[in-house]
Amino acid sequence: MKTYCIVGTGGRGIHSYAVPLVKDFPDCAVLAGVYDINWKRAALVSEYVGKNIPVFRDFDEMLRTCKPDAVIVTTKDSEHAAYIIRALEFGCDVITEKPMTTDAETCAAILEAEKRTGHNVIVTFNCRFFPFYVRIKELLMSGVVGDILSVHFEWLLDTRHGADYFRRWHAERKNSGSLLIHKATHHFDLANWFVDDEPRKVNAFGTQRFYGPHREQRSVRCLDCPYKKTCEFYMDIEADAEMKRMYRDCEDVDGYFRDQCVFGDRIDIEDSISLNVRYAHGAVMSYSLTAHSPYECMKIVINGTLGRLEADTAFGGTNLRVYNRKGERVDYVKVDKREIPGGHGGSDPAMRSNIFRGFTEDPLNQMAGTRAGAMSIGIGIAANISMKEDRAVCLKEFLGDFYDM
Ligand SMILES: NC(=O)c1ccc[n+]([C@@H]2O[C@H](COP(=O)([O-])OP(=O)(O)OC[C@H]3O[C@@H](n4cnc5c(N)ncnc54)[C@H](O)[C@@H]3O)[C@@H](O)[C@H]2O)c1
Repeated sequence: MKTYCIVGTGGRGIHSYAVPLVKDFPDCAVLAGVYDINWKRAALVSEYVGKNIPVFRDFDEMLRTCKPDAVIVTTKDSEHAAYIIRALEFGCDVITEKPMTTDAETCAAILEAEKRTGHNVIVTFNCRFFPFYVRIKELLMSGVVGDILSVHFEWLLDTRHGADYFRRWHAERKNSGSLLIHKATHHFDLANWFVDDEPRKVNAFGTQRFYGPHREQRSVRCLDCPYKKTCEFYMDIEADAEMKRMYRDCEDVDGYFRDQCVFGDRIDIEDSISLNVRYAHGAVMSYSLTAHSPYECMKIVINGTLGRLEADTAFGGTNLRVYNRKGERVDYVKVDKREIPGGHGGSDPAMRSNIFRGFTEDPLNQMAGTRAGAMSIGIGIAANISMKEDRAVCLKEFLGDFYDM
């Protein structure tokens, strides 16, 4: 039986960890306590899990009182590092949500703390558990395309999903490190996992021309916006019971609005990103992220010495094609299209089982630690530097000796 504490009791902390931990793993896991700077939101945990979970007003006090085996970190991204390091130093293992952290300095500090304390950090890349991506990984491992030479990766967020990042804390670089860290960490980890290599050098461009303070008719938040009747991005935070309960009713504690204007003055992240990556063993990748697409989709093409794999999720599908050197379609790949319950296409429950029940075999290398965490945000950190300084950036510049280990 292992004891866990959670820091950060927002949507992810409550629905992806607190509730399943208590309901699905009573034989091997105990949720001993929760902490959030917003104590009101933390107090909701007991309501959602249906039993009393102690709420702490201080993180260290929670550790001292509960002495957990592991701490689950699900705060906003920029706060992960401080809690990861504090928990490691206290003698706990850590399970942290992606992104591991948001900048080079805290990334190095986490790597150092893990090494110094001897405790372990899991970075939860749930995409590695999506059945569709698992199938791609299996095909690549079976050698269908041979050695990977190049990757073309495009991620499209539609104006429902994409806009939501611009309503929340994510829209400010100081909180999320930008979409290059917060969102693209998933995509860069998938690419690193598929290519089975580590990124070396990055060159990036990004713009913000769709969201952000480019529209005259803008406000601070939707709730009292004078343009609510005409704005296509208006969101009624009071109409959705869950939104109201988790965020609107907790505003008095920390002043955080979940319905901020997507054209707000505070927004300083890109909504269109284009970058190139060179991998250590020679593969190259072109990647783009669009946060204002008419439709939602992932498209990936992987070119190898023996052929080419094309995959996409256009219009809710899971389409896979593999071509050989003669241009023939060699593999009709059936992908299970059933919607698997439990969050993010079934990936969350699969990942949780691996984390909380322990795993002995990991043939697809789905579990990730700080190295994978660093390599994934490493592309985003390098891209942020590249855009700021208008140059190509090597990950070694900020990962230092760790890169060569
Ligand atoms: N893997 C996935 O698919 C996935 C999906 C959603 C979110 N996430 C990650 O989970 C984390 C939480 O995201 P969310 O959607 O739940 O956001 P959220 O805004 O709903 O919750 C974040 C919580 O962190 C708390 N918080 C902020 N600063 C804090 C601090 N200094 N100390 C303690 N608590 C603090 C907030 O009060 C809030 O309750 C993020 O890191 C995000 O990237 C991952």
